Amino acid sequence: MRVFFRASRLLYQGLVKPWGSRWTQRSGGTADQIASFYDNLSAIYSGTMLSDHERYIFRKYLPQPPARVLDIGCGAGRTTSFLAEEGYDVVGIDLSHVLIKSAQSRFPSINFRVMDAGDLLFENDSFDAAIFSFNGLDCVAPVGTRLQILKEVLRVVKPGGRFYLSSHNIWEKFRPKTENIRSALLWAFELFTILTRQLVRPRFWNDYWWNYDSDGWILVFSGSPGKNLSSFGKIGWEKIAVCGRTMIGGRCLGEEGTLKRDDETYRLRWLTWNEHHIQYILEKQAPSKICKDTAYESSPGQAS
Ligand SMILES: C[S@@+](CC[C@H](N)C(=O)[O-])C[C@H]1O[C@@H](n2cnc3c(N)ncnc32)[C@H](O)[C@@H]1O
Repeated sequence: MRVFFRASRLLYQGLVKPWGSRWTQRSGGTADQIASFYDNLSAIYSGTMLSDHERYIFRKYLPQPPARVLDIGCGAGRTTSFLAEEGYDVVGIDLSHVLIKSAQSRFPSINFRVMDAGDLLFENDSFDAAIFSFNGLDCVAPVGTRLQILKEVLRVVKPGGRFYLSSHNIWEKFRPKTENIRSALLWAFELFTILTRQLVRPRFWNDYWWNYDSDGWILVFSGSPGKNLSSFGKIGWEKIAVCGRTMIGGRCLGEEGTLKRDDETYRLRWLTWNEHHIQYILEKQAPSKICKDTAYESSPGQAS
């Protein structure tokens, strides 16, 4: 019976309700749309708890404090406050005035600013590291704007500096969840709804997919990990590690030594099939290795 209710809700919210106002409200996309979408979610983003995998990744892969870190899409300061407590010199930026106001009043000693990640008001090479957590980059559309942000972050991070971001992975949705009849039915209904939505409003040729989570349906970038890594590399971001958010034995699954085979291809394939959110830890390549048409030329950068 519960499966029936959950499936009906999925179908209703996925296929009927979209024709109401929430269809566009959930679409994200441009800076204004994103800001107004997140302005209304200040309650959700006002928690301070980090997930285990985030704490682990920050401690393992970011440079040691007191390095200077840019927290992009910091929301109400969840990750920013953690980094400040760890001793980092951290600046939090977000498009949403409401979330930045909330962050500033909760953590008055931290530097928060309303800013668009596609047009960062900082000097070249002015941060040791940057993060864009909780799949924040995925609500940016179209792909060109997303790439511009990746280039802007490259510009403000020093050579050898790190960048952590997480991103949706659509392929995990196609893995049959057949542990029992209930999970099989729910999986089939969800996939059916996603595919129908994609057909009604086709976006899948450019990696934007409808995603159903606790917050309802949202249209988010959900590229394949292999393709993402290749576009990061072309911009000038070298891969340091790719993993999932599932933790086992105190480490993230997908890291070296956590799966039954250790070769890169196997680990990437495993993540692509099993993890809905992929964690990327990248490093800015030396200037000599970065291709000419990066953000260095396209964006002059302004004084902070
Ligand atoms: C999923 S929320 C995550 C919030 C916060 N990082 C956290 O983990 O609690 C994504 C955030 O990214 C912000 N964001 C999206 N695109 C942005 C952009 N182009 N520039 C700055 N912030 C952006 C949104 O306003 C939103 O607050």
